[in-house]
Amino acid sequence: MGKHLLLLLLNLSLLLGFLQALYCQKCAYVKPDGSCLGQRTACRAPDQGECLLKNSSSGNSVVFGFQDCRLMCHNVTIRRRVLLAVTSCCKDRDFCNAF
Ligand SMILES: *[C@@H]1O[C@H](CO)[C@@H](O)[C@H](O)[C@H]1NC(C)=O
Ligand SMILES: *[C@@H]1O[C@H](CO)[C@@H](O)[C@H](O)[C@H]1NC(C)=O
Repeated sequence: MGKHLLLLLLNLSLLLGFLQALYCQKCAYVKPDGSCLGQRTACRAPDQGECLLKNSSSGNSVVFGFQDCRLMCHNVTIRRRVLLAVTSCCKDRDFCNAF
């Protein structure tokens, strides 16, 4: 009985681990129209990780973007001359780092 219980708990923890997994959009270069240069794929964020979205814009126009999974993700806004680079992190739902 002890062994069965152990197996049950093991399966349960694997299932919970699976349910907790966070998936994000991954693209090395998002074009101004929001599409990906190359293939947009999915990545699985590491435990405690988040989805990252970087939006570099000028005025109201997107210049380029970036999407990935990150363990240490920090919301940061950097302004350099006319370019505004906003990095935002989210983990409220899968693929939340949408462009
Ligand atoms: C980062 O920004 C997102 C929205 O862009 C917000 O939902 C989230 O709470 C912010 N995280 C932190 C740690 O401030
Ligand atoms: C990126 O930044 C531009 C300019 O501020 C804004 O219009 C656009 O909504 C942003 N896109 C995302 C996905 O944050």
